[in-house]
Formats: sequence, structure tokens, C-alpha cells
Amino acid sequence: MTPDHPKSRRSFSDFLLHLHPRTIPEENLRLTLSWGLGGMAVMLVCLLFLTGILLLLTYQPSTGSAYASIVTLTREVRFGLWIRNIHHWSANLLVVIAMLHLLRIVLTGAFGQGRRLNWIIGLFLLFLLLSANFTGYLLPWDQLAYWAVTICTSMLGYIPVGGLWLQELFRGGAEIGPATLSNFCVLHVAFIPATLFVLLLWHFWLVRRAGGLVQVEHDNPDDVPVQRVPTVPNLIVREAAVGLVLVAFILILAIVWDAPLMEQANPGMSPNPAKAPWYFLGFQELLLHLHPVFASFLWPLLGVAALLWVPFWQDSALPTGVWFGSNSGRRLVIWTATVGALTTLAIILADNLLLQSNAAVAVDTLVTRGLLPTALLIALLVGFYFLLVKGLKYTRAEAVMAGIVLVLVALAVCTIIGVWFRGAEMHLVWL
Ligand code: HEM
Repeated sequence: MTPDHPKSRRSFSDFLLHLHPRTIPEENLRLTLSWGLGGMAVMLVCLLFLTGILLLLTYQPSTGSAYASIVTLTREVRFGLWIRNIHHWSANLLVVIAMLHLLRIVLTGAFGQGRRLNWIIGLFLLFLLLSANFTGYLLPWDQLAYWAVTICTSMLGYIPVGGLWLQELFRGGAEIGPATLSNFCVLHVAFIPATLFVLLLWHFWLVRRAGGLVQVEHDNPDDVPVQRVPTVPNLIVREAAVGLVLVAFILILAIVWDAPLMEQANPGMSPNPAKAPWYFLGFQELLLHLHPVFASFLWPLLGVAALLWVPFWQDSALPTGVWFGSNSGRRLVIWTATVGALTTLAIILADNLLLQSNAAVAVDTLVTRGLLPTALLIALLVGFYFLLVKGLKYTRAEAVMAGIVLVLVALAVCTIIGVWFRGAEMHLVWL
């Protein structure tokens, strides 16, 4: 049977229609509704599965040979370096794209009724892809990997009850060694991809069940009947175009920019500075200013709890399908993001001066570096909410959107400082 035989063509579109409804609202075709971010994330996951399988043909998961197998792959195996680079860049880009996708869900009111469960599944997906990135980080067994994983697993130790137990569980013992590598390898190549796959199918099915992406709700739906168009070819052609541009971008990026590989892991010599992977550097930055229990446990816990709870708070989602809810919502976001970025920067610089000027300021002081900043943060967020809702007459949904933007911008500033402006001993440096 030739590939363009009508029957095979039909079964291909039937397969696509398992993921999509047969027809979709015409409005869903608008690229500016979702910017194709969810589709890009899917494409990156596919690239990761494909290149991951190829990498497994050479990779050897033991402390004695892991590093050498990566060196062999990059120097001797044809296209080995390119495949490793594609895997590396896809994984890192996926974190960025998934965060942007989350932001678009917030900014287009897509976590409200009918989509709450999908928001929760999305949060699990985010957790899984961060875990996949992190467990993969150790596999080359170079200095970068060894010390980044040392830092992150020691953060686990600060969790009040069961933290040390959790740390030992992940490490497979007191120290990072052969057991850690095999634990991480199993999580990375089997457990996480399998769970990710199942959750992704569930995620897509929930989009389908909600009737496609969010749409603008008209006051009187009878006046403006929803126009539906066939999914194949309308949506599929657009998805393919976005996907192909993204793949081309990654393939070129992987030619011009190699994934990092330092010398083989040496448990006796820590690099200076020793940094966590970039997506955890925001939390490492917090660790420089706050008591460790607050930086590595309580603040992230508060953030996750708030994200899990927010869709269940009545009227917390914007009107569906309209970016920022309105023009005043757009101005609010721009204003919040600017003030949030500048304030975070000012706090970091001021605290840095404080820490430098007085050697007696210890960061592990429970009250001054834990309870006090936490109380201030909560007061700031609650005050901000009431200022917006009671004082400036914004809706609850607009205030929630501004709150989420504020926290994400603050985390982004901490991450940028951690990546580019922290040098030896984690001191601030200017580029
Ligand atoms: C591996 C990560 C992820 C993949 C591959 C993925 C994929 C997708 C796709 C393909 C769509 C439909 C098209 C689109 O919105 O562009 C979608 C919709 C959605 N996603 Fe994700 N997603 C991921 C992570 C997340 C995260 C982190 C969240 C938020 C916590 C999230 C929440 C949602 C919601 C609520 C929808 C429905 C949007 C609507 O109805 O307009 N997803 N996702």
C-alpha cells in the first residue's frame, strides 16, 4: 500500500482525531490565543524521547564508565555530539516553554471551571519535567553534575521531618555515589518518562473534553454562533508548521552550541562556585538570604500550595480567551512585572550590603531570616491584593493574575542573578 493511499491517509487522520476532536471552534486556530506553546512542549517531549533512546545505545550507567561513555559518544560516534546537544537543548527549552505555557494559562483565564483538573495535571507535568531534567543532569558524571546534585540533595536535608531520610533515599546512601547514579538513571529513563506519557495523554484528553482551548465568551451566545472548522487540515497544518520551525531551531542550535561537559566527577574537589542547575538557581539565591528551612522548604511549599489551590478559589480566573482580561489588566501586568523586578533586585542588593557590612549576620537565624521575612512576604501579598481589589477596584481574577506574575517575576530575577551574577563563593559579580 503506498503512503498516499486514501485508506492509510484516513487512518493517519483517524489517529490525529484521537488526540483532537473532529471539528474545533474557528477561534482556536488563532495563533495569538496560545502561541502554540503546548504544542511546542509536546514536540520537545517527542524529541527528548527519540534522542534519549539513541543516547542509551552508548551510555553506561556506572560511576566507572558513565563519563567515558559520554566522551566516546561525543568524539567517536557519528552524530553522537549532535544528538547529545539536541537532547540537552530540548530539555532546557522545555522548562522555559512549559513555564510560558503556564503563564499563558493564567493570562487567558484557562484554569477556571472545566479546566481545574487539567491545571493540576499541568502542575504535575511541570514537576515531572523538572525531575527529568534534574535526574538527567547527574548522568554524565562530570564535576558540574556531581556538585549540582550534591547541592540540591543537601537542600532536601533541610525539610523538617523526614528530610534526611528523603535525602538518603535519593542518594541511595549518605553520599553521592554508584547507588545515586543508578537511582537517577532508573528514574530518568523509565519511571519519569512512563508517568509523563500517561499524564500527557490525560492532559490532552481533558483539553478535548473541555471542548478545545478557552474561547471568548460572548454575552449572548445566540447572537454569535460558534463557527466550527474541520481539525484536519486546519489545526494540523498549523501545529505542524509551529512544530517544524521549532525542530529546525533546535537542530541548528545543537550544531552551533555544545552541551556542557566538565572534567570527570571528583568528590574531593568542589568547583567554585558550585551551582545548582539553572532552573533551581532561584531557590539557591533564596538560600543566600533566608534560613535554609524557609528557602528550601517552606517558601517553595507555600508557592506550590497556592498554585494547587488557586483554581478552586471562586472567581479567581480571568474572563476566558481574552489576554490579561482587559486593557486595564494588561497595564496592571506590565506595571506589576516592572515594579516586582526592580523591588526584588533592590532587596537582593540591600541584603547583600547588609551581609557584607556585618560578618555577624548569620543566614541561619530562624527569626530574622525565617519568620520575619515570611511574615513580611505574606503581609505584602495580602496588602497588594486588598490594594488592588478594594482600593483600585480591580476584580479578584485580575489581582490573582497580578500576584502570580509578581511571584514569577521575582523568581525569574533570582534565577537570572544566580545564573549570570554569582561568581566565586557565590559573591555578586558584574559581567
Ligand atoms: C510537559 C509539559 C506540558 C505539555 C506537553 C502540555 C501540553 C499542552 C497542550 C498541547 C495543550 C493544548 C494546546 C495549548 O494550550 O497550547 C495544553 C493545554 C493546557 N495546559 Fe498544558 N502542557 C504542559 C504543561 C502544563 C502546565 C505546567 C500547566 C499549568 C499548570 C498546564 C495547563 C494546561 C491547561 C489548563 C490547558 C488547557 C488550556 C485551554 O483550555 O485553553 N500544562 N497543554
